Amino acid sequence: MSALAISSSTFAVAIVVLLFALFLILLLGSFVRSRRAASTRAVAQPRASGIAAPAAPAAPKPRRLVARRDFLRGGLLTSLVIFAAQFGGATLAFLWPNIKGGFGSVILLPDSLDSIKSQIATSRQPYYFGAGRFYIINYEALGGTGTHSIYQGLIEDGLMALFQKCAHLGCRVPFCQQSQWFECPCHGSKYNEAGEYRLGPAPQGMYRFAVKVEGQSVKVDTSSVVLGPPRGTDTIRQSPEGPFCV
Ligand code: FES
Repeated sequence: MSALAISSSTFAVAIVVLLFALFLILLLGSFVRSRRAASTRAVAQPRASGIAAPAAPAAPKPRRLVARRDFLRGGLLTSLVIFAAQFGGATLAFLWPNIKGGFGSVILLPDSLDSIKSQIATSRQPYYFGAGRFYIINYEALGGTGTHSIYQGLIEDGLMALFQKCAHLGCRVPFCQQSQWFECPCHGSKYNEAGEYRLGPAPQGMYRFAVKVEGQSVKVDTSSVVLGPPRGTDTIRQSPEGPFCV
């Protein structure tokens, strides 16, 4: 999925570069042609014979007419420039979140490791980071072990990042404070606090991103989505802790 996203970004950039290259080639070709035409006109003019001709009365200066071919060429170039500018702008707007470090890139969280852990503990809910579309859970505090084979490479310092998208049809899954589970409002899929499938039509647990901790800095790599654990996975053995929200 992420590979597809990366390749489409690369494809868009390649298209912009190609358009600019095409524009430059056309511009250069037009310039060379006009230079050639100018030099041909200069050669075709009658050369002075050496005998001074009687001075003719000054004729009115002729109006300069634009040839149809020049007009069409100019129109084509102008359209190309406008199209390239519009397409380039749209592509930049599309890629901007990745360029500035939003979803689809490695995101450095604004809070420190200790602060994130303390917020999770005091609020009794996962740390939510909307710009990155993920939740951070303290997997170890939930009773999970950082060395659990299915989550290898995803956990650091006990933290794990869950993609907010439901594994069923992609709705955003909020966390229910009462049950302490994630509950999808669309078709009722439910996941425990570790994002593992419990109930509803979702085919598996919530997707994840790798967490990297350096000192107090916490980074989440949203450029690569990791599939959720299969149905039947229950590493934290958490029953609902209150009534469901959905
Ligand atoms: S999208 Fe969440 S249950 Fe269908």
